[in-house]
Amino acid sequence: MYDYSKAIEIAKDIYWVGTYVENDVFQCHTYLIVDGNESIIIDSGSMMEYEEVKAKIESITNLKNIKYIIAHHQDPDVCANIPAFEKVIQRDDLLIVTHPRNITLIKHYGIKSSYYDIEEHNYKLDTKNFLLKFLTTPYAHAPGAFVTYNQENKILFSSDIFGGLEESWHFWANDNYFKEIKLFHEDYMPSQDILSYSLEKFKKLDLEIIAPQHGSLIKKRCIAPLIKNLENLKCGLYIEESYKNSIIYKNKLLHEAIVKEKKLLQEIQKSQSALAKSKQRYKELATKDILTGILNRLAFEKELKKVISSAKRTGAKFALLFLDLDHFKEVNDTYGHDMGDKLLQEVTKRVLSNIRVEDIFARIGGDEFILLFTNINKEALHSLIDKTVSLFGKPWVINGIKLNMTTSVGVSIFPDDADNETGLMKKADIAMYKSKELGCNQVVYFEKSL
Ligand SMILES: [Fe+2]
Ligand SMILES: [Fe+2]
Repeated sequence: MYDYSKAIEIAKDIYWVGTYVENDVFQCHTYLIVDGNESIIIDSGSMMEYEEVKAKIESITNLKNIKYIIAHHQDPDVCANIPAFEKVIQRDDLLIVTHPRNITLIKHYGIKSSYYDIEEHNYKLDTKNFLLKFLTTPYAHAPGAFVTYNQENKILFSSDIFGGLEESWHFWANDNYFKEIKLFHEDYMPSQDILSYSLEKFKKLDLEIIAPQHGSLIKKRCIAPLIKNLENLKCGLYIEESYKNSIIYKNKLLHEAIVKEKKLLQEIQKSQSALAKSKQRYKELATKDILTGILNRLAFEKELKKVISSAKRTGAKFALLFLDLDHFKEVNDTYGHDMGDKLLQEVTKRVLSNIRVEDIFARIGGDEFILLFTNINKEALHSLIDKTVSLFGKPWVINGIKLNMTTSVGVSIFPDDADNETGLMKKADIAMYKSKELGCNQVVYFEKSL
């Protein structure tokens, strides 16, 4: 337990020389740095505490040894007693250490001494044994506000920041100190971002003690959690109900707009992918036979054109086969269209798995198919056609029902029978009808006599 009627040493040659006013929630603290005849008073205070502060300083050092009085900001509880101290210190070289923005205001207390402008001195004060660094904390809570850091002792003299309003005052802050800080900062710090700007600077310091101008002194273990809590404190402008409400309202609007936008974006993405899907589907419909998935007539005719022009360049031969399933109508009539469709799908599967990759298989109508064998010679053609026709000779089992199916085939050869697509198609068609005439299930090669 300290005797608060006396100065208390908080680090070597650094003293608390503040006042303890019983039952007052607003305790004010002055600090003294003893450095021979270059000693320093930090935030000398108001006239209310003047006598007690002066007495405590005198108990440590002669007032004549005071060369500097630091005024962290302009408030009366910080520096209104400076003119009184000037009278008792009686040094021509006494300097009031402050920020130029404070000078404009504090001169109105009647200060006569010269000023030590921290801006002009690169935010430093170098005495015999101490190096003090000054960090600006603008608008927290005065335009010229700053704090003092002593690196050797790792002490931050934080002025009003970290100050607290306390029902029952403790010299050293306990774990509940944030409650007291909150009460003070909510009302006296202008805004969260202004306060956070200063806190960012403090976070970079190596700190053992924070010595604020009000409330409790803070030891290392409490510092980081307090900074964290302060960073999230809504202060200053929030005491205005209208501001609080408008900010909450604006945030709500913003949130709603974001949600709306996200939804809209999702819908756009959804319809974009649906559009891409239907584009793909239309493309397929335009080129493919829906039932079997192979080329339809239109697409086949395009392919045929390409094959013809390439064959004309290379001098290659190819054969075009018209295939028409024999008596297919009976399947539909007997077993229904579903069976017929399945049979067509099975035919497609079986043919596709037995032809070469370079060959083309297409469905051009109900039970009509075209098969195009590219790059052939006569021997290869006959064996290819035999192989294809034999595929139909094997039984078809659809839905557990065994079907026998044959096919009639008409063949035209490029360029022997025709050298253009209409001619080739027409001639293969004629040959196929001949096969039907001859009783189905056979291969007819186009001849002029047909
Ligand atoms: Fe203040
Ligand atoms: Fe203050």
